[in-house]
This record gives sequence, structure tokens and C-alpha cells, in this order.
Amino acid sequence: RLLIIDFGSQVTQLIARRLRELNVYCEIHPYQNVTEAFLQGFAPKAVIFSGGPSSVFAEGAPMPPAAVFTLGVPILGICYGQQVMMHCLGGKVERGHGTAEFGRAFVTPAGGRLAILDGWFDDGREQVWMSHGDHVSQIAPGFQVFGTSPNAPFAITADPARHFYAVQFHPEVHHTPKGAKLYENFVRLAGFKGDWTMGAYREEAIAKIRAQVGDAKVICGLSGGVDSSVAAVLIHEAIGDQLTCVFVDHGLLRQGEAEQVVTMFRDNYNMALIHADESELFLGALEGVSDPEVKRKTIGRLFIDVFQKHAADVGGATFLAQGTLYPDVIESVSFSGGPSVTIKSHHNVGGLPEKMGLKLVEPLRELFKDEVRALGRELGLPDSFIGRHPFPGPGLAIRCPGEITRDKLEILRRADAVYIDQIRRHGLYDEIWQAFVALLPVRTVGVMGDGRTYDYACALRAVTSVDGMTADYYPFTHDFLGETATRIINEVPGINRVTYDITSKPPGTIEWE
Ligand code: XMP
Repeated sequence: RLLIIDFGSQVTQLIARRLRELNVYCEIHPYQNVTEAFLQGFAPKAVIFSGGPSSVFAEGAPMPPAAVFTLGVPILGICYGQQVMMHCLGGKVERGHGTAEFGRAFVTPAGGRLAILDGWFDDGREQVWMSHGDHVSQIAPGFQVFGTSPNAPFAITADPARHFYAVQFHPEVHHTPKGAKLYENFVRLAGFKGDWTMGAYREEAIAKIRAQVGDAKVICGLSGGVDSSVAAVLIHEAIGDQLTCVFVDHGLLRQGEAEQVVTMFRDNYNMALIHADESELFLGALEGVSDPEVKRKTIGRLFIDVFQKHAADVGGATFLAQGTLYPDVIESVSFSGGPSVTIKSHHNVGGLPEKMGLKLVEPLRELFKDEVRALGRELGLPDSFIGRHPFPGPGLAIRCPGEITRDKLEILRRADAVYIDQIRRHGLYDEIWQAFVALLPVRTVGVMGDGRTYDYACALRAVTSVDGMTADYYPFTHDFLGETATRIINEVPGINRVTYDITSKPPGTIEWE
């Protein structure tokens, strides 16, 4: 296995991800934990030093233990990792006066051939992504230069005899197109065969959950979304009946959704699942409310109350399981306390663990969305579950601008079911990030048969996106839109007009509220 020593870079997890893509098993450990004894126990076959925000000149600057250099295994230092390596091995690092480099740069070869650069420089130079203030000004004894960029004369350095490699740029990011190749060369050279799989990840994750939880009880909020579903199934596999899931049904779910989720987890997985049918409570509290933020806050508050009530019924749970993914971790680190404004109060169970005195189990914390899907497949979750579009916590409440009534919700559910059926029939579901109907608080006049109608208008929404942060509307054909409008008006009493929302994000948001 490979050890990544984390010096605090925002993108350390991307290194792990690149290695998982190469089917190499790795673990990330913060530098503070990597002592000489730890190294001996871990016995890595190779080590990577991540980047980091510090300067080697800073007091208490993060450093690896000296023993790492005498293990006799290949080491790759990235950015701050390079500076640390030079600093520890007798080179020099200088503060970046005028030589800081951020963003795209081009590296050209220098010196001779280097195994980790196989496949590089076919066109004479390679694009890399730099992000550094300090820089190496003198390389350590035994090192040579193998690549330079205008602001980083020591962009690629190595001591090939000891298999120490150090680069100033970030090979793990997308903007270093040949970065994955560099990692591949490095792990091959270290002797990894690339035979580690998601199946192995599953086994390891299960072992970790067992070690963390022991014989304690765990509760988990299950929404039926991909993340919480995969987390629940994985934890269930690890600890069986010690896990109880709480599915909060706020009466704002889509057609057939509650039954689907309950059947799936209770019947197919034999999980202890509390179906908290609290629609009366939620819809009662939302009566007369039309302000989007008041809706969100009301739902968020009740959700926590309801979850707490049912969790207390389980009795003695000391852990709360959450399907937190790595992008959530990065976002909360980089944005917490930042100057960003609240566009919408997103609904989640934030603050709940502290309030309830629970410890967290977050078995997906290191994974990206597509890896969670792969793990879900590995765990036998059906594709129909794994490929589901995201659905917001406040549910249909934020797809029904204005006051919410049971009648409106019923109309919305039926229209949404027809729309999604259309999308599936036309084979478009997987191309679309998210699609739904919003029921507008507007009634318009129509004519059906020989009669006048005065019914609701609705808007169809469908967007493409990679992460939900930005989005574009989906370019349906006019035929598709026409057919769908006809079906909705014919099949859903209460709607007599259909519009298509062609707003991207920004300036719009994906949801209507
Ligand atoms: P917006 O509407 O902000 O949505 O462009 C971006 C993505 O987030 C989802 N969304 C939510 N998810 N709780 C959630 O769990 C929420 O309160 C919430 N609000 C929006 C939305 O469906 C889209 O995928």
C-alpha cells in the first residue's frame, strides 16, 4: 500500500482519487500522525508528500519524520511536498518574491530520461498546474533537474538512484493533462500491480466501520438519495442490526417514493427502518406559508425535531451515520466562515450531532459522487437507485411556489410522474442531471372540448450539470416538449398550460425556490 502524507492541500484527496483510478490502494494520513513508529507499522511500498498551504520557513512548519527518507521506498513530493523534500535533504527553498506562480504553466524537458516522465514531452512541452508562493532555489545533493518552467527552474527534480521525485506543480488536477500518466509511472516503478478494486474498498470500509463503532448503536437518516442509501447499505453490511435508519416522510415526496424506499430497504435489505410518516405535522406547519426561506427553515427545523424524536425511540444510539462526500468536505472547509452570501438555506441535519451528543460515522467521506455510485453497484444496489436524479431535502415544497396545499401537491406529483416517464421513454434520463415539474401559483384560461377551463400552469425544468453548482437547461426537441405538454394536460386534471424553463444557473438556480 501507498502512504500519502497530507500537508494540508485542498486537493490531497485528488491524489487518492488518481491512485484509486489506477487500482492502487492508498491511505491519506495527516503529517502530525506520521511518526517513525507509524511508518514502521504502515510499511508503505511508496510515499507521496502532498502539497500544503504552509511555508517551510514558518514556525512549526509541517515536516515528515526523517525516517521516511531511509525506508528505501520511492517518494514523490508535490509542491509543498517538493519544498519539504529539498529542505530536509539539504537543498534550499526561497520565499517567492516575484516568482510565485498560479495557474497554467508549461514545462519543458531538461537533463536526461526519467522513468516517471514516460509518455511526457511528446510535443516538446507539457501543460501543468502551478500554485506556489515559495520555490526551490537549490536542489539537494544527489538531485538533478528534469523539467523547467519559466518561473520554476526546478519544476521536475529527481534523485533517480534513491527513487526520490519532486515536482513543483500539481499532477493530480485536471489541468495537468499528463498528471495521471505521471502517477501511473510512479506506482509502476514502486511495484504496484494495479489489482486493487472497489470490492476491496468495500471490505476495508466495512472493517473500518466495525473498528470505529464496536458494539454501539448507530442511527442514520435515510432519504432514498444515492449518498444516504449507499452509506446505509454499507454500514448495515458492517454492523447489521446495530443500525437503525429513520426515513422522514414529510408529505413532500414524489409519487410512490415513500413506498419505494421503504420496500427497498426493509424488504430487500432487511434493515431496521423507521418510516416516520409526519406529513400532517409538516403540511400543518406550512399552511399559509409562501415565503421560500420560511418554508425551508420550517421544514429544516421540523426535520430535526422529528429525526430526534425517532432516534430517541431507538434508545442508546451513540453514532449518527451520514453520507457526506468529499466535495462536501472541501466545500465546508474552504467556505466556512468565508464571505459567501446565503442564496438558499440548504436543508440538512447540520448541527444535529452536537445537539444530540452523537459521534459521526461518515464512510463516504473520501469518495467522489461517481465512486459512490460504483460502490453502490458493488453493494448490489439497483441501477435505478444509483442513477437517480438528486432530490432536495425540502422536497416538493420548493417546487410549488406560493402557498402549499394538498391539492396542489397532488397535481404536482401527477404531472411530475408523467414528465419523468416521458424522459425515461425517450431514453434521456441519464443525460440529464435533474428534471422536475414546478407547479406555478397561476391559473390561466383554456379551452378543452367545448368548455372553458381555468386551471394551473406548470413549468418543466431539466438541466445538465456536473456538480449542481452551475447548470444549463436541457435542449429538448420541440417534438418532445409538445408531446409532453399534451400528455400532462390530458392526464393531469388541474393543469391546462405547460411552459418550459430555459434559464441556466446562474442567473437562475436549479430549483424554483
Ligand atoms: P439550486 O436550486 O440551489 O440547487 O440551484 C442545486 C442543487 O441542490 C439541490 N438542493 C438541495 N438539496 N437540500 C438538499 O439536499 C436543499 O435544501 C436543497 N436545495 C437545493 C437541488 O435540487 C440541486 O440539485
